[in-house]
Amino acid sequence: MSIDRLAVVGAGFMGSGIAESAAAAGVAVTVFEPELPPLERSRERLAVSVARAVEAGKRSREEADALIARISYTTTIEDLTQADALVEAVYEDPELKGKLFEQLDALLPQARFLASNTSSIPIAALAARTRRPERVVGLHFFSPVPVMKLVEVVAAIDTDPQTVTDAEAFAAQIGKQPIRTKDRAGFVVNFLLVPYLMAAVRMYEEGFASREDIDTGMKLGCGHPMGPLTLCDFIGLDVLQAVCDSLLDEFGRPEYAAPPLLKRMVTAGHLGRKSGRGFYSYGGA
Ligand SMILES: NC(=O)c1ccc[n+]([C@@H]2O[C@H](COP(=O)([O-])OP(=O)(O)OC[C@H]3O[C@@H](n4cnc5c(N)ncnc54)[C@H](O)[C@@H]3O)[C@@H](O)[C@H]2O)c1
Repeated sequence: MSIDRLAVVGAGFMGSGIAESAAAAGVAVTVFEPELPPLERSRERLAVSVARAVEAGKRSREEADALIARISYTTTIEDLTQADALVEAVYEDPELKGKLFEQLDALLPQARFLASNTSSIPIAALAARTRRPERVVGLHFFSPVPVMKLVEVVAAIDTDPQTVTDAEAFAAQIGKQPIRTKDRAGFVVNFLLVPYLMAAVRMYEEGFASREDIDTGMKLGCGHPMGPLTLCDFIGLDVLQAVCDSLLDEFGRPEYAAPPLLKRMVTAGHLGRKSGRGFYSYGGA
């Protein structure tokens, strides 16, 4: 059974992308935030993204208009009650997400699944805040969501197999490729990616090679589309530090420890592309 109406909670970078991908697949989406300004920014972000797709010849103007019309925005959480399923993408704050899951569980008794896009908070911790933990699941999208095909489907200790199947079917419905993972820090991708990125940061920190040579080495030597330090800047060094902390906390292995250079860069506000400066400088900011 397909999802006809989706609720998205949180209209930031990821929530906006999830709403766009679902609407592009014909799903009616309601996006909730308690304040209006983030919703307005989300609407503007959608207009830019959709216009780019039209310019690139990936969508007709009619398709773009229909996509935009499928998304509604609300500051009233009760407007989500008719949704068939929900994806939460608010700040990475366990208490904020926990409270929302309590509230959403009561508001959407019929929803097939309540999913979180969290990168590091145990899905079990969010499920424990609900009365029906069997329908709580992780749906970990990758940024930018309209472009990236992968979704990690995270089955927590109490997630019903049917919920996992429904979440996977939804991912496929909106044109994504789901992979299954257990509810462990890092899931599949960050568990493998983060030690590699941190090795590159340590290599640069120790003066082993220049940032350009480290990046060129992995691009031309391994066929990666971008080098590890460029990728760190793209992800955001603060986000990476948080993922390192959760991996280190869960597995206790030194390969997950954020190197001192990364921590100092975060302290200094050199967060990567989004702040204009990370391992590289980005024009303007
Ligand atoms: N950025 C990434 O690359 C990425 C990738 C995968 C997963 N994630 C996860 O996605 C989630 C969102 O990340 P993001 O990068 O979109 O963050 P973001 O800061 O761009 O967006 C978060 C949004 O949540 C909103 N919000 C705060 N409190 C809220 C509430 N009570 N109800 C509704 N909305 C509320 C904020 O106003 C903001 O617009 C996080 O859990 C993050 O770990 C991020």
